[in-house]
Amino acid sequence: MNVLVVGNGGREHAILLALKKSKRVDKLYCMKGNAGTAEIAENVDVDYMDVEAVKNYALSHPEIDYYVVAPDDPLAIGLVDELESIGKRCFGPRKDAAIIEASKAFSKSLMQKYGIPTAEAQTFDNYDKALQYVREKGAPIVLKADGLALGKGVLVCEDLKQAEDGLKKIMLDKSFGKAGNVIVIEECMKGLKYTPGEEVSVLAFTDGKTIVPMITSCDHKRAYDNDKGLNTGGMGTFSPCPFWTKELEEEVLKNIMIPTINAMNAESRTFKGCLYFGLMRTDKGIKVVEYNSRFGDPETQVVLPMLKTDLLDIFEAVTDERLSDIRIEWDDGACVCVVLASGGYPLSYAKGKEITLGDTGDTLIVHAGTAVKDNKLVTAGGRVLGVVAKGKDVEEARKKAYKAVDNISFENMQYRMDIGLKYRKG
Ligand code: AMP
Ligand code: GLY
Repeated sequence: MNVLVVGNGGREHAILLALKKSKRVDKLYCMKGNAGTAEIAENVDVDYMDVEAVKNYALSHPEIDYYVVAPDDPLAIGLVDELESIGKRCFGPRKDAAIIEASKAFSKSLMQKYGIPTAEAQTFDNYDKALQYVREKGAPIVLKADGLALGKGVLVCEDLKQAEDGLKKIMLDKSFGKAGNVIVIEECMKGLKYTPGEEVSVLAFTDGKTIVPMITSCDHKRAYDNDKGLNTGGMGTFSPCPFWTKELEEEVLKNIMIPTINAMNAESRTFKGCLYFGLMRTDKGIKVVEYNSRFGDPETQVVLPMLKTDLLDIFEAVTDERLSDIRIEWDDGACVCVVLASGGYPLSYAKGKEITLGDTGDTLIVHAGTAVKDNKLVTAGGRVLGVVAKGKDVEEARKKAYKAVDNISFENMQYRMDIGLKYRKG
């Protein structure tokens, strides 16, 4: 089969690397891709947010049998629905299901309606009423712009001043554009040891009938060590999550995952694809922080390398609604991804810096923001590369990953030294 993956980043390269292992894959394509995807796939220079352009491309390339839509934006505008409307087979939720990520007001009301554990919250479209609520509740408090905001639309406010400033930023200054027309204001959840509580990302395959969690992972979202600096798209990940247990998985399946797919079915919004559960262990049990309608980035970079089952077999089983027929198996051990970013990220940064790749051993180099210019590999984004290493445990994988990092360089390379160190004692 010939398979096209939509997207440009590390997640898409990781998906392609996993698909490449499939015996049934002939040729891979990536729309638009990066320098890493170009090594294993044909990069297709079409803007994936231009639905007509994508459909025209698909119609003129009947040799492509299957499409994987990986990023949130094209899912939210219904690229899967559009491709299906011209007879193409896809992996990814339709627009009416992708709303579980695209609108935080929707996902919050879904969880409230169906009793899925989450932070207590209220939704507002009126600034004055929102302000009154914030003042009533006091800090700490969490503000969430309703719509997609490149992962930046959530403000965890430690005092009332921050909350009032944040509310103004989202609702009046429209710092996240129309994503801030509606706001969800919620209680700040406390953990057993920390506030906010400990977080875990659980991606799950679902065909709307069956839901199968993948191995767990944890993301490091802040720019600098010890969780200092601004929130980023993710500076590194590791798998598995240290506090995850079989009992917790059973609890999450029973109280969160199965109720979520049932709720989406009850709303006539059957979710088929990869559903991402951002969960928090709190003093009142495990709760949902957020849903994403897709694979996480950079979670995918540590989850898919551990997958033993053919990924295309799983994707097609989801599409054909026969996921219960497939046995999904994982490697034992651990995996770590250290993200190498451009100095200055997540604010402004330079592009076009030459990347030197020395001996990186048996690590997997996953490309995010890279390009080839004058036959040289150069930086082309905030997050540039993910260095992915496997080991018998997180410590061994960490050592391998950082050893490889020592042999990679570009001007103003920025990365965290503490990937894999959080929640160590469970
Ligand atoms: P989200 O984009 O919804 O995942 O939120 C981004 C980050 O904000 C999460 O990963 C948490 O660290 C934090 N966060 C979100 N909601 C809450 C909450 N209700 N209580 C505490 N922290 C939160
Ligand atoms: N790593 C978080 C996300 O993909 O949204």
